[in-house]
Amino acid sequence: MSDYIFTKTPSTIRKVNTKNITIKTSLPAKGTKDFFLDLQKYESRSMHGQIPIIWKKASNFNIYDIANNKFIDFTSGIFISNIGHSNQKLVKNLKDLLNNEILSCYSYFNSQRKEYIKKLIKFTGLKGYKAYLVSSGTEATEAALKIMRMNGLKSKKNYILAYEGNWHGRTLGAQMMSGNLAQKDWIKNLDNEIIHLPFPYPWKVSEKDSYNFFVENLNFLKKEKIKFENIAGVMLETFQGWCSAFYPKNYIKLLRDFTKKNNIVMTFDEMQAGFARTGKNFGYQHYNVKPDLICVGKGMGGGVPLSGLIGRSDLLDLPGVGSMSSTHSANPLVCSAGLSVLNEIKSKKLVKKTFDKGLIITNKLNKLMSDFPLYIKGIYGKGMIHAIIFNTKNLKKGKKDTSYIVSHICEKIMFRGLLVVHTGRESIKIGPPLTISKNALNEGLKIIIDEITETLKGI
Ligand SMILES: Cc1ncc(COP(=O)(O)O)c(C=O)c1O
Repeated sequence: MSDYIFTKTPSTIRKVNTKNITIKTSLPAKGTKDFFLDLQKYESRSMHGQIPIIWKKASNFNIYDIANNKFIDFTSGIFISNIGHSNQKLVKNLKDLLNNEILSCYSYFNSQRKEYIKKLIKFTGLKGYKAYLVSSGTEATEAALKIMRMNGLKSKKNYILAYEGNWHGRTLGAQMMSGNLAQKDWIKNLDNEIIHLPFPYPWKVSEKDSYNFFVENLNFLKKEKIKFENIAGVMLETFQGWCSAFYPKNYIKLLRDFTKKNNIVMTFDEMQAGFARTGKNFGYQHYNVKPDLICVGKGMGGGVPLSGLIGRSDLLDLPGVGSMSSTHSANPLVCSAGLSVLNEIKSKKLVKKTFDKGLIITNKLNKLMSDFPLYIKGIYGKGMIHAIIFNTKNLKKGKKDTSYIVSHICEKIMFRGLLVVHTGRESIKIGPPLTISKNALNEGLKIIIDEITETLKGI
């Protein structure tokens, strides 16, 4: 993780006034530092790593700060606002619901929930699947862990396979399935039946290497004396988050065949990949496989806290009455928002449009990479989620390592009126709302390309 600290002191910068961006004051806007210092007294520092813009308003693909500077947003929050920030239809539906005086109803029935769940299952296109709703992504991945283990109980299957470098949330089970070792040092009794396999990074494993890599995975399990019939489930992030790297298609096919043969539940964590983000309804559809469980969240609620687990009926019905529900599960407000998301994806044809606009991103970033082969290691992603991965061996300056330099680039991009996802690592991630105009998309990409070019030429 980079030790870069974003400046909170206003810097005088070049003013910008285009169709999509207005920067008329110094940045961060006056008052940001005092705001931060005051909040810091009361709030855990764990919340304080992002680019310091105080969001006053967010509308479609624009963010406005406290001085009314208007930025293009290439973050969608953190891949939340797929249908655009403060989507007008979603807001209207929420207002109508509030006017009907219903805010919550625990797990008593409500009609929004019934309508939404039915539409959600239809959206997956999977026959005989069911869903269970919660509020955060980490609850959804925890629920998947529970279901995979419950299903295994019958036949002494307890091992869960997960992947090095993948990430599934911040609660106990989710962190144990995540591949990030540093984040697990607080856990005294790590579950030694959660096993991490090496991830087939695209810079190491091509489509045609998939078979050998898969065999290496199986040999690794044999070496650890793990019998295939004792494996309950496998948890996969649809693409690895920080670098937007998908698995080779052949690898996933081999894995699906293996899981079917050994009666292993295959789960995709679709938190970032779902709801049209990659140019398909769900990201796993790029692999042409049918999962047993799907963890969903983020873009699912269009800005309200909605997440869930979708899966085969026999799996979702394993927990008895009341043993898999939460106080805020399927609250009418979040169901109304979820329904608006599905309707907007359909009526605005966001799946197709996202796929097409994604090609603009891929082409422009690939051209950038070809200009700097020494410093840019790869461009990964599909649709409206991409990452630029820098080469940690070559991109250094004095004591400044790659992640420091990359954080500095993110800050310079912000000064020009664009927000990108700061990963704190050797990557810059972008994921604009799927509703962004082509004009704004191109304007944002130009800023990224200009700033990276300037920095890399100066190394
Ligand atoms: C792939 C993945 N899984 C799980 C989570 C956890 O979601 P949440 O932060 O809503 O708990 C995230 C969040 O970034 C994620 O990207």
